[in-house]
Amino acid sequence: MSTNSIDSLLHETRRFPPSEAFAASAVATNELYEKAAADRVGFWADQSRELLHWHTPFTQTLDWSNAPFARWFADGELNVAYNCLDRHVLAGNGDRVAFHWEGENGDTASYTYSELTAAVKRAANVLTKLGIGQGDRVAIYLPVIPEAVIAMLAVARIGAVHSVVFGGFSAESLRSRIDDASAKLVITADGGWRKGKVFPLKPAVDGAIANGTSTIEHVLVVRRGENEVDWTDGRDRWWHDELASVPAEHEAQAFEAENPLFILYTSGTTGKPKGILHTSGGYLTQVAFTHKNVFDLHPETDVYWCTADVGWVTGHSYVIYGPLANGATQLLYEGTPDTPHPGRWWELIQKYRVSIFYTAPTAIRSFMKIGRQVPNQFDLSSLRVLGSVGEPINPEAWIWYRDVIGGGETPIVDTWWQTETGAIMISALPGVTSLKPGSAQVPIPGVKIDILGEDGTRVDPPRGGLLVVSEPWPSMLRGIWGDPDRFIETYWSKFSVPASEGQDAVWKYFAGDGAHVDTDGDIVLLGRVDDVMNVSGHRLSTQEIESALVSHPIVAEAAVVGAADEATGQAVVAFVIIKSNQADAQTADEASALLRRHVTEQIGAIARPRQIFIVAELPKTRSGKIMRRLLQDVAEGREIGDTTTLADTSVMQIISDKLK
Ligand code: PRX
Repeated sequence: MSTNSIDSLLHETRRFPPSEAFAASAVATNELYEKAAADRVGFWADQSRELLHWHTPFTQTLDWSNAPFARWFADGELNVAYNCLDRHVLAGNGDRVAFHWEGENGDTASYTYSELTAAVKRAANVLTKLGIGQGDRVAIYLPVIPEAVIAMLAVARIGAVHSVVFGGFSAESLRSRIDDASAKLVITADGGWRKGKVFPLKPAVDGAIANGTSTIEHVLVVRRGENEVDWTDGRDRWWHDELASVPAEHEAQAFEAENPLFILYTSGTTGKPKGILHTSGGYLTQVAFTHKNVFDLHPETDVYWCTADVGWVTGHSYVIYGPLANGATQLLYEGTPDTPHPGRWWELIQKYRVSIFYTAPTAIRSFMKIGRQVPNQFDLSSLRVLGSVGEPINPEAWIWYRDVIGGGETPIVDTWWQTETGAIMISALPGVTSLKPGSAQVPIPGVKIDILGEDGTRVDPPRGGLLVVSEPWPSMLRGIWGDPDRFIETYWSKFSVPASEGQDAVWKYFAGDGAHVDTDGDIVLLGRVDDVMNVSGHRLSTQEIESALVSHPIVAEAAVVGAADEATGQAVVAFVIIKSNQADAQTADEASALLRRHVTEQIGAIARPRQIFIVAELPKTRSGKIMRRLLQDVAEGREIGDTTTLADTSVMQIISDKLK
């Protein structure tokens, strides 16, 4: 974040207490905080029993004896899909719409809970027929279409593990995820709609598994784009043919609470993306709890819309599992906000009378730029709660969101969490909390957050420090797929205190974010403190993009920084040294275009650098470490900071002179 925006965040004085009318019918109450404060673990046990159906009730709540590997509700058994489907039908809500779906090209569909249950039962039978059983991994590479929901729930229903890969990732990224998880099946489509065109998905799948050593046995293909696709007989199957060929009935079996539910890959500071592992009972408890209380869900009357793609954690927790566990009615939209016109989102809110809306600050800022005249053309009066996620929301965007989209009245919940935390951890509760623009504010009931200094002691407010979660929480990650050491090293090594004589070990989860806490105890998030960038609310690793750049034969060295960007929060800016024997082969512009394409092929369009500067040298310390801080100064157009620790102090002068 730039220094200016941090300043405006920390000097925000406006307060928005809940209206009396809202508070009177609010789902959340102060009592939740009181109960959780009195008995944190017992509070989660009560929530879990109240919110979920347990085939076998649990008698233990938290087992932390093998910390930091937690087990929640470990002797209980449940079926996640049954909780999201069958039980609503059995409770008499089968005719309630689970979701309205709107394709970008104008196609529509609606599924009631009965219809969705029926579809998932058939899909579960297809998976079993294709040899998928409990614990097997299934990769899902789909657009936001009903089949994505059905596929994820079908995998969950049979106790298998899904690994959803965002459709914007390249064949190369898909391949590394399939290989890391040894997936047996991929579910994809013959295309999806984006920006008025059909984009292909099947060729990336073909490319990802082409090397002959892939663990993939079958590819299930949903017909959506009506695109021509290459076909490998025996391996490839049409989704609709397979669904028609299996029995309609499928009884949900109960699995242990700690049965793995999904793996989701996310970027870290080093190496390849990490497969974050989530399990069943604890995860479902916290996503259901937060979805109900943070969004003030009244499932009989609300229409909820979260704009996230199912390929990200927000799509997992707040499109699939939270809303469906709570029996909500939601909207699902396949495409981009501005296709075929810049008011598409607002038109959808008007059409479906959306009452709860959850999106990212990047989207809000891009709408602000276009101006209020676009949303003003639509009737947005159905909205009553707005949410924000993925990056800090600056007070200007917060106020615009409330005034222009929320009619000046709706509460806004700024929700802080991560792929690793599985569910919302810090957020106001509408109807309870007095809102502060730009601040995520307070941990949800049952979650313990601290802001620590580098030495591990709690900072005295008002001050900044590093964000840690100090007690285990139900939806916490259970590990990194296949790499327990990296799990401990990445998240638990910075602030945990090992056991010593007479003293148990103290485990603290370090989130990688900087935060400021004020004298009210409210938390303002300040962005990542590591080499993870946040571009449009998506996590990218500087190192992963550097590796992609140096994998190109013309590149000798590369350094990547996240530079502050008004629209996307941060933008990828790369500094590249071209190999001396290649330097004359093309102009800097040609090399830069070539390398931008290369990064897109290696990772995906979200990682494509906004700018690539071709330079002769990179600023390094005497021990050879690249000083990204100085490159960030250049990328953000600032005066260059202290260069005295550089091995060659003239390097930065040469770089900045050249770029001027
Ligand atoms: O830096 C924080 C930022 O997004 C990171 C997590 O990214 P990811 O795992 O992709 O999950 C995004 C959606 C939950 C965090 O480490 N972040 C997320 N929400 C906020 C945020 N930063 C500030 N305010 C938020 N509300």
